[in-house]
Amino acid sequence: MIAQEPTLKNRPEFINVRIKRQNGPGQEPYWELHKIKYEPEMNVISVLQRIAAQATTVDGKRVTPVTWDCGCLEEVCGACTMVVNGRVRQSCSALVDRLLADNPDEIVLEPMSKFPVIRDLMVDRERLFRGLQRVKGWVPVDSYYDMGPGERQLRDTQEQNYPLSQCMSCGCCLEACPQFLKIEVPRKEGETDEQYEARKYAEYDKGFVGANAISQVMLFNNHPTGKALAKERLDALTGPGGIATCGNAQNCVAVCPKEIPLTTSIARAGRATTVHAIKKWFER
Ligand code: SF4
Ligand code: SF4
Ligand code: FES
Repeated sequence: MIAQEPTLKNRPEFINVRIKRQNGPGQEPYWELHKIKYEPEMNVISVLQRIAAQATTVDGKRVTPVTWDCGCLEEVCGACTMVVNGRVRQSCSALVDRLLADNPDEIVLEPMSKFPVIRDLMVDRERLFRGLQRVKGWVPVDSYYDMGPGERQLRDTQEQNYPLSQCMSCGCCLEACPQFLKIEVPRKEGETDEQYEARKYAEYDKGFVGANAISQVMLFNNHPTGKALAKERLDALTGPGGIATCGNAQNCVAVCPKEIPLTTSIARAGRATTVHAIKKWFER
């Protein structure tokens, strides 16, 4: 049976919103129930704005406004990722009418479970960006002078690269991946910023780099200028936490909001790392 969105006749007067909150990094999470007036065509961000404005639970208890992250509000920046009704997604494109059609009783909001919580629904995605550093997920340039037009790309290359270039570093693929496990590094007393960062990155670098970073390797290794770092990227993928950690569960591709062909990238990366390893063996 196809779930029905609220119509003029069956639209609810109020919406129940259950939120998993946490006051700070490493603290115990707790659940809170809020009730707001229904308005047509809201998204989860507008629901959170109403909840922040009223800052009162369903039992009439005054509470601090719920914290969340967002930027573009059009599924481009990747900042607003959270778990909505048990499914990781962008909260800016999660439409309330559709959510109510699936579950008219309540909307349940949780932070992603694979990243450290900063507060409430806001998480620290730094490990994702560290993963892109590990694989050198960029086109190298050695100055900001005008160096003229870049090398032309064949249409086939453009068509292969364009979908991969749409990655917005949202973290959905990492949240859904059974091989990407949470790493949270609490700060030690007396530690300097530099000491803490070095210790945190050392921990992050032991973990799985994730489908998004593997896919970015395929993007930049297939780019006329980006391929200058191809070997270094493949070295990173053959190292600890690299492609061998992927268990091919394919959860990543199922949740990517940009529908990036992540499992195709993983298969291509698997072949590229094998060829790279054989070449290195012969070069010894
Ligand atoms: S295919 Fe690999 S990266 Fe994707 S969800 Fe499975 S284990 Fe994770
Ligand atoms: S690959 Fe898709 S799910 Fe993963 S970070 Fe990029 S846009 Fe998000
Ligand atoms: S606010 Fe930018 S993707 Fe949702």
